[in-house]
Amino acid sequence: MYLADDNRYDSMKYIRSGKSGLMLPAFSLGLWHNFGDNSNPENMAELCKTAFDNGITHFDLANNYGPPYGAAEKNFGKIFEENFRSYRDELIISTKAGYDMWPGPYGNWGSRKYLLASLDQSLKRMGLEYVDIFYHHRMDPETPLEETMGALATAVNSGKAIYAGLSNYDGEHLQKATEILNELKVPFVINQNRYSIFDRTIENNGLLKMTEGLEKGLICFSPLAQGMLTDKYLHGIPSDSRAKKDGRYLKESALTDERIGQIKELNEMASVRGQSLAQMSLAWVLSHKAVTSVLIGASAPGQILENIKAMENMEFSTEELKKIDDIASRVEYRTR
Ligand SMILES: NC(=O)c1ccc[n+]([C@@H]2O[C@H](COP(=O)([O-])OP(=O)(O)OC[C@H]3O[C@@H](n4cnc5c(N)ncnc54)[C@H](OP(=O)(O)O)[C@@H]3O)[C@@H](O)[C@H]2O)c1
Repeated sequence: MYLADDNRYDSMKYIRSGKSGLMLPAFSLGLWHNFGDNSNPENMAELCKTAFDNGITHFDLANNYGPPYGAAEKNFGKIFEENFRSYRDELIISTKAGYDMWPGPYGNWGSRKYLLASLDQSLKRMGLEYVDIFYHHRMDPETPLEETMGALATAVNSGKAIYAGLSNYDGEHLQKATEILNELKVPFVINQNRYSIFDRTIENNGLLKMTEGLEKGLICFSPLAQGMLTDKYLHGIPSDSRAKKDGRYLKESALTDERIGQIKELNEMASVRGQSLAQMSLAWVLSHKAVTSVLIGASAPGQILENIKAMENMEFSTEELKKIDDIASRVEYRTR
């Protein structure tokens, strides 16, 4: 039987999500990769235990994480039942709906029909009575925002979600959504968006500024650009890497000579700071005042242990920040 480390709260930092009552660990664990039916069940359990033993109280899922879709929730549900049920009140478990999940017109985007059915399915797969955060996963240009936000309100009012979140919104839509959620008195506390040294979308689409202005939380996904912002690809593409194993979201073709050149320069900067590149990249995201948590993925428990040490040096000089911006701006970043 798993017994969590007694010292699990000693070194992790907990950061308030905007002006809400919710505090999140500076590092959260995402289950997008490495929790599908093609992954090793023992490794999955070890990843969750390593995270929790080190104060990572937040696990992030979505309906369609797999493969196949739904598998990460099902596999997490098994790990939860075997190890974490007695720790339920110490955990923040989130899920989402908004991308393609099941065939036909009701298994995608932002309708009330889709969101509420999907939440029920997620709870069943995970064996949970409620999730802590239920996100709308992406903006839907067709469904009225009032309908989607109304579905989040129902999710919370029915007790199936404690808080509501928005993912992949831009500044303009965040503002409109917030007005509706305020009217509906929904505890909307957090945005989930991609942010890294390489991906500056939220600096340019108004999300970062608006999040701060509205005093909402911000949890940043793919802070390591799916592993590119580590020393992993400095000497070729390892057989056990995401670029080699997956290829759908991180393509080998993304690792151009220019990109590797950038990574090498950043790696040198990190080593001058006494950090690994992964640690410097995570510290860079966390050092932004709007950021509540960095949402990391991991294929091995050792990566979690390395990455949380980023907390040991989160200060950047003006010169360092400028140099990072200069290096990052040299190559356009595309996610697919
Ligand atoms: N809301 C959304 O639309 C959305 C979209 C994407 C992700 N997310 C969430 O964000 C979470 C994290 O995303 P992500 O996995 O792309 O994050 P990431 O932290 O940028 O990338 C994680 C990957 O980087 C590699 N890695 C991590 N630490 C390393 C280290 N110290 N040294 C070398 N390699 C290291 C591992 O890949 P290898 O397999 O190569 O070892 C790991 O799986 C997801 O699980 C999900 O919960 C949300």
